[in-house]
Amino acid sequence: MAWSPEKTEVKSWNEWDTLRHAIVGRADDCHIPPEEPALDAKVPEDSDMRGQWGRRPQETIDRANELLDNFADQLRKRGVRVDRPVSIDHSQPVTTPDFHTDSQFGCMPPRDVLLTVGHEMLEATMSYRCRWFEYLNYRPLLKQYWEEDPNFRHEAAPKPRLTDADYHPDYLSEKIGDAKRLEWAAEKFFVTTEEEPLFDAADVLRFGKDLVVQHGFTTNLKGIEWLRRHFPDHRVHTVNFPGDPYPIHIDATFTPLRPGLIVNNPQRRLPEEQREMFHKNGWEIVDAAQPAHNTPPPLCYSSTWLSMNVLVLDPKTVCVEKSEVYQAEQMDKLGMEVVEVELRDAYAFGGGLHCCTADVYRDGECEDYFP
Ligand code: NVA
Repeated sequence: MAWSPEKTEVKSWNEWDTLRHAIVGRADDCHIPPEEPALDAKVPEDSDMRGQWGRRPQETIDRANELLDNFADQLRKRGVRVDRPVSIDHSQPVTTPDFHTDSQFGCMPPRDVLLTVGHEMLEATMSYRCRWFEYLNYRPLLKQYWEEDPNFRHEAAPKPRLTDADYHPDYLSEKIGDAKRLEWAAEKFFVTTEEEPLFDAADVLRFGKDLVVQHGFTTNLKGIEWLRRHFPDHRVHTVNFPGDPYPIHIDATFTPLRPGLIVNNPQRRLPEEQREMFHKNGWEIVDAAQPAHNTPPPLCYSSTWLSMNVLVLDPKTVCVEKSEVYQAEQMDKLGMEVVEVELRDAYAFGGGLHCCTADVYRDGECEDYFP
């Protein structure tokens, strides 16, 4: 049955079919969280964020919200139904029987927390203590979807304990250096241990019957095994990108645009032995264009490669951040219509155009692209 804006339906099997309904995050009450093992391992050693925490300055929150609101309106004008999360008070500490941290993070980006697979939205375990309760920002929406769509499956992965046993102490040193980090990444020695299943939703890409999951800082092998058992009708593939000294979240590294075409970060190439399923099925993996910026904006966790963190609206149309002119030019050459979206001043809140959204509904069914 064709999608109708009057009827809520959750369904999305991949990253590229026509987007009809999405969640766009908010910058409300976003905090730079206090130090904790997994977060410290991720913040680049030369970052301006080292050693500071607290609520982000109000003027930066207002500016990010202005951009996120504009993006939501742009999507609405193109016929996409857009919902927004309801921010909890992120200044509240997180205390469980196993750990305490003094504040939380925010409700940007939803892509990190919510994984939509078919008629299901799955709340990820998360791997940072400050993000333990982040799903609460989305509960009003998920409650609504559950009440309005009788086929919607609202699932939550087991909450992890996140004791010190979850983190390798080697990563807690102030100065490790990129050479060491790259050596460890090549050995698949990441900050998270295999104590219990851990995954962030943004480490997963959906290709119909196949789920491609990055093993790195925020997703461990047990997390991938948990996904495998949770989605028994899917094939779950583990991928690594050894060129990345801070491997979290796959969506500034590997970006499918349409069936048969993926853009891959040239500094984080998928190893040859992991390309087989793509090559065997005629998929092309092309190097992404260079980012337009040499540095991320102030107080930003992410790399300049948010340039390739694009949102595909349908197999011929893609949203690209307005200042990312090289990425836009490449998309054009690859036959995509480019929709420019201004978002750079919101990057610091947790990412780009793919990060700041979560799928609720895309056309299309679950296809097997790698038979
Ligand atoms: N590892 C990523 C996160 C992007 C969403 C980066 O390049 O910063």
